Amino acid sequence: RAPPCTLVIFGAGGDLTKRLLMPALYNLAGGGLLDQEFSVLGVDHNPLTDDGWRDDLTKTMESFTKDPSAEFHAERIDPRPWGFVRERLHVMQGDFSEEATFKDLAGRVTGNVVFYLAVAARFFGPVVEGLGKAGLLKQADHAFRRVVIEKPFGADLASAKALNETILAQGDESQFYRIDHFLGKETVQSILAIRFANAMLEPIWRREHVDHVEITAAETIGVEERGRFYEPTGALRDMVPNHLFQLLTMVAMEPPGAFDAEAVRDEKTKLVTAIRPVTPDNAVRGQYAAGHEDGKEVPAYRDEPDVSKESRTETYAALKLEIENPRWSGVPFYLRTGKRMAGRRTEIAVHFKAPSLPLFRGAAGDGIAPNVMRLRIDPEPGSATRLNVKRPGPQMHLAAIETGFRYADFFDPAPTVGYETLLYDCMRGDPTLFQRADTIEASWAAVDPLIQAWKDAPVCSYPAGSPGPKEADDLLARDGRAWLPLG
Ligand code: BG6
Repeated sequence: RAPPCTLVIFGAGGDLTKRLLMPALYNLAGGGLLDQEFSVLGVDHNPLTDDGWRDDLTKTMESFTKDPSAEFHAERIDPRPWGFVRERLHVMQGDFSEEATFKDLAGRVTGNVVFYLAVAARFFGPVVEGLGKAGLLKQADHAFRRVVIEKPFGADLASAKALNETILAQGDESQFYRIDHFLGKETVQSILAIRFANAMLEPIWRREHVDHVEITAAETIGVEERGRFYEPTGALRDMVPNHLFQLLTMVAMEPPGAFDAEAVRDEKTKLVTAIRPVTPDNAVRGQYAAGHEDGKEVPAYRDEPDVSKESRTETYAALKLEIENPRWSGVPFYLRTGKRMAGRRTEIAVHFKAPSLPLFRGAAGDGIAPNVMRLRIDPEPGSATRLNVKRPGPQMHLAAIETGFRYADFFDPAPTVGYETLLYDCMRGDPTLFQRADTIEASWAAVDPLIQAWKDAPVCSYPAGSPGPKEADDLLARDGRAWLPLG
């Protein structure tokens, strides 16, 4: 059970609070993981009353039971855990840029507090400064004061550094919990278990045996209603130095000396620091044109709401990375992410080298298909490994088969929207699944040359519902390789 604390949510009326934080608290309450003394204090610039906010959130929770697109799935809302959360909800009005808000707040909270910044990124610095100046980040009498900061943490290396400087002037690194929601995904956390708890895998997870690694986060949805955020952001900033690099660190970092937060995060930073900064000749940017999704016609990115008709923002990015360390030197890591692609898939594919024995070379049949181990995160968590077997029959013909497992076949689906563990860990003071300042800065540093080069670069086009721009295929074809199909 988490220690007693107040969760102060800046952005109480926002989407994140409704869609993710409330369902996560409901699930935590359902699991008996919240203390009786737990409470929530929402802060919003709109006037809300406790009762009004409670009623609104109850309606929203109920609406999720009929909304298949919601992150939260339940047939009905159980009145016990929801009642537990609901009666602990309080709200106050406040402008995030005014000192008075923080003074008010200081009069309302005591003891352990987690401040959750569910607000637009431009408020991160000012809110932390407001908290600091009002003395709200001082940790006296063993009470903790922690701040959860949502993504995006900076828009490039310079702005991420500046933001770290601003917040670290108000508190200690150990008080800041920078979120990357990919780390809340069970299967992402499981990558370390798969790698380091299986003695048959660890020895071959290196350059001597691995040919290349593919990391994909492909989405079928478009930019939806987020044009205003997405236009100055683009796929590279939105997904690569954060989500894709989290997958990269999990699959490529060295084993930590211990399974504790600093040891794990030290290894992540070392890995990210070893990435050779990416140059434009090793990357492709694309933007979706009109096309088809699920048989329906869908508009081009430039015709989406709040998007400029001349926009050159990328909705797709592919990168070839090189990691300069003894384990991975010479092994390319190909990363791709995009919206409106041919399939929804988040996965890591580790491609192994072909066997060195010439035993089957030239033999009739299908030839040898190198082993590939796919660690699947979305939409169907699990893994699949390609192996070669003998095709039944009188001749020695080979066939490639896939053997795998699905989490759903072994484990009951835990009720989760992906934020439960993150909230729970923050209340317990375990920052393992949060990003440290140095990792974030090293991640931005790796893509910064690309961000600068892409400012004035043209963007390739790909039809909505396709695997991405042809130029991204060329990026791999140049090395004699190809992306795994998305369908
Ligand atoms: C978010 C990005 O951080 O991650 C979105 O801003 C993206 O653009 C989303 O759609 C993807 O997350 P998931 O969990 O749906 O794969």
